[in-house]
Amino acid sequence: MPIPKIGQDAAPLERPLRMFPSAREAFRVFLAQAADPGKRVLLPAYIGWSAREGSGVFDPIAAVGLTPGFYRVDAQLHVDLEDLERQLVRGAGVVVLIHYFGHVDPGYREAVALARRYGALIVEDEAHAMLTDLYGGTCGRLGDVCLFSLHKLLPMPTGGALVVNPSGRALVEGLASAPDPSIRAPWDFDLHAMVAARRANAALLAELLAPLAGRVDPLWTLPPEEVPQTFAVKIRGVSRDVLYERMNARGFGVVSLYHTMITPLSIDEFPISHELARTVMNLPVHQEATADSLRALVVELGRQLELLAS
Ligand SMILES: Cc1ncc(COP(=O)(O)O)c(C=O)c1O
Repeated sequence: MPIPKIGQDAAPLERPLRMFPSAREAFRVFLAQAADPGKRVLLPAYIGWSAREGSGVFDPIAAVGLTPGFYRVDAQLHVDLEDLERQLVRGAGVVVLIHYFGHVDPGYREAVALARRYGALIVEDEAHAMLTDLYGGTCGRLGDVCLFSLHKLLPMPTGGALVVNPSGRALVEGLASAPDPSIRAPWDFDLHAMVAARRANAALLAELLAPLAGRVDPLWTLPPEEVPQTFAVKIRGVSRDVLYERMNARGFGVVSLYHTMITPLSIDEFPISHELARTVMNLPVHQEATADSLRALVVELGRQLELLAS
């Protein structure tokens, strides 16, 4: 086989980015164009809502007039594959997989295979996982399209993208998108530097948090190829909300990303989701968190845990 001087076969590798003001707008436009209006859109049963932001995942489905359905997650926020299949049997046109906080579900491949078996389109929500996709390559290749939320990972105020994989090409033919030149491309930033900082900060936090085991437990052990959006921990024994307030009041920018579940996710039907919503806290790992500031954060966390427990 001869080898050309330059690889020119674009078709199998093209993943064009359609730029939008936000991930939710990219999702809305995609659903309006490609989703079967008579079929459900399946979401993981861990979707948050806030008065200020609404729900970036749920609102586009309502805006297009589609019917949502939910598949369960387990206590580690991983897909319950049996429940996903139960939901697929009941019928679905689209399955949304969310790579929460930049982490790839261990059941990712199986979830995709199930969705394909039942003929559903697959959207990979990479609002938190753009860097795991681009640098780890462990998500974003099996779905038809992916969603990036640029402003969640890069220092820019707005920005989202619809990434179209080869299997999604036909779905977006003629799709309306109004490129906004004020939304910068991810490549305008030193992504490698950001990725290196996030990975190093996550590794440092995992080490620093070890003495707090049982009170602050990492939700996952992150594989080295992943790039966390935040470092997700479970807070045990004290109120996560009070701890959140106290840490922020002292200048440590922790987040409880999905503190309130959307109304369709009732506590009776989805107790595990509510338990996660009540206990998960997200620690910063972005490039502005220095090693010293993370050490100070963990010291303060330990101090506040003692105070709250006494
Ligand atoms: C998992 C997930 N997907 C999508 C979105 C929507 O992102 P954006 O703010 O870019 O619309 C959010 C945030 O709201 C999110 O947390």
